[in-house]
Amino acid sequence: MANEPLILALPKGRIMRDVLPIVRRAGITPEPAFDDPECRQLRFRTNLAGLDIIRVRSFDVATFVAFGGAHIGVAGNDVLMEFDYPELYAPLDLGVGQCRISVAEPADFVTDDDPSRWSSVRVATKYPGITSRHFARRGVQAECIKLNGAMELAPQLGLCRRIVDLVSTGATLEANGLVEIERICDITSRLTVNRAAWKTRPEEINEWIGKFQEAVDAKAA
Ligand code: PRP
Repeated sequence: MANEPLILALPKGRIMRDVLPIVRRAGITPEPAFDDPECRQLRFRTNLAGLDIIRVRSFDVATFVAFGGAHIGVAGNDVLMEFDYPELYAPLDLGVGQCRISVAEPADFVTDDDPSRWSSVRVATKYPGITSRHFARRGVQAECIKLNGAMELAPQLGLCRRIVDLVSTGATLEANGLVEIERICDITSRLTVNRAAWKTRPEEINEWIGKFQEAVDAKAA
């Protein structure tokens, strides 16, 4: 409904530290409960009557926006690529949350391993879609073991030899005896928009894209 507030979906966790300054620079101030770590509330009012915020897991940002529960959101292109929802547009790169999706394996396998000779590979990952498509392009059959976190444990506990996961500083790989052997793609956070909402409420959504663009430019300046 056009008179309902727009819903902005934001991702929980570490990425929020990078995203929130942009949100604030775009003129959005969440209600105080948003900053209270004890608060169990999931939907928040803002200083603007026309905009509410929901805080959900990063994968769920894409799902809430794709199904129209939220009109706009902030999601990494890892999540956008994994789901590949046709209902989602990602018109603006926010330039934060920079990391990459990579293939990694235990350091002691690396010298004898030649990825160009693989015909099949078993991988633990929370990105089975990205992983399967990446290896299919190389003609490699990928068997994905879906995990939701702590992928780095899978090789040492015998689930598989390799993982596909986000790498930012590389500290998690190193702490778990793994080495990056192939970069699949670079990742940043994007402003995402529900396609139908953009058609039905174009003025509001275009205004938000403009405000987020200005907030990104102000940071870069
Ligand atoms: C991500 C990713 C790695 C880690 C990489 O996990 O899955 O485990 O960050 O970062 P680094 O290269 O700087 O060490 P995150 O902490 O986001 O939690 P998750 O396991 O819930 O995905």
